Amino acid sequence: MELNEFVHQLDELEKQAVGELSAIQDAAALEEVRIKYLGAKSGQFKNVQKSMGALAATDRPAGGKRFNEVKNAIQAAFDEAQNRASQQATKSTGPMADPTLPGARIRLGHVHPITQTIEHLKEIMGRLGFSVTEGPEVEDPWHNFVALNIPDDHPARDPLDNFYLKTAEKNSGVTRLLRSQTSTVQIRVMESRQPPVRIISLGRVYRPDEADATHFPMFHQMEGLWVDRGVTMAQLKSVLRLFATSYLGGDVNIRFRPSFFPFTEPSVEVDFWWAGRWIEFGGAGMVDPNVLNAVGYDPEVYTGFAFGLGVERLCMRRHQVTDIRDLYRNDVRFLRQF
Ligand code: PHE
Repeated sequence: MELNEFVHQLDELEKQAVGELSAIQDAAALEEVRIKYLGAKSGQFKNVQKSMGALAATDRPAGGKRFNEVKNAIQAAFDEAQNRASQQATKSTGPMADPTLPGARIRLGHVHPITQTIEHLKEIMGRLGFSVTEGPEVEDPWHNFVALNIPDDHPARDPLDNFYLKTAEKNSGVTRLLRSQTSTVQIRVMESRQPPVRIISLGRVYRPDEADATHFPMFHQMEGLWVDRGVTMAQLKSVLRLFATSYLGGDVNIRFRPSFFPFTEPSVEVDFWWAGRWIEFGGAGMVDPNVLNAVGYDPEVYTGFAFGLGVERLCMRRHQVTDIRDLYRNDVRFLRQF
């Protein structure tokens, strides 16, 4: 091939390519032109490059020099076109964001009202000198009944009043049940340490009750236990009164009504004044000597009190919730209020 012809091809290519590139405004068109001229397989630039091999050896340096000039010119036009296309892209996404506008509110989840209540109760009782302990929800009859002075034939053991775990019994021959009260933790704590003991334990308990506005088959209790030399029932009442006024407010009255629990003697029901009437919040009493004996404490040396309060009731009283089922429906419209 003649050098003239080769240079002519290059000139044409440059004119065409630079002309087309200079008219380009967007990325799609740019890509078309790129393939047409600079495509690696059959782009026109590639074709001209191939024909350089057909030049006489003496013509090649001059041909190569012109080739490089054209290559650089096309590259420069391409870079410019690319710049324009990317500016166009940012422009075309609509009006510019206004950084002075307030941001969109991010909706975060939060802790369930009962969990919030538990944390609050722990904090109040912590200030009264009670430390927090925990016990298992799956229990054995020793901790749920026997050590609590609830004998074999006691109605509290009735399968109709408890969730016995049949499979556990079938597979291993041992009786297991979902604890029906947090008093189990009293036993576990006293078995594992010597007095003085001043603890609370908050957790779930299970009873096969029909759900209604005030009952649910799973609920929470706060158990309290204080055993030491010379602990009295007057202290029990003081602690409960301090607790009630801290949690519910200064105007809350409390009262004890005589009652019976196998593990306390004497035993009382604990009522708080709620919206014009007395409402039962739980039970309490002086730890029965049989219980102290069961855990190896000397009832001649130590006395103690215990109480168990319903956590849902406390939460409902404080937040004016009237149906316990609302707490467990998982309806965000309700839960969001807390
Ligand atoms: N365990 C009792 C109940 O579930 C409450 C209670 C706890 C009573 C401690 C006396 C002492 O109702």
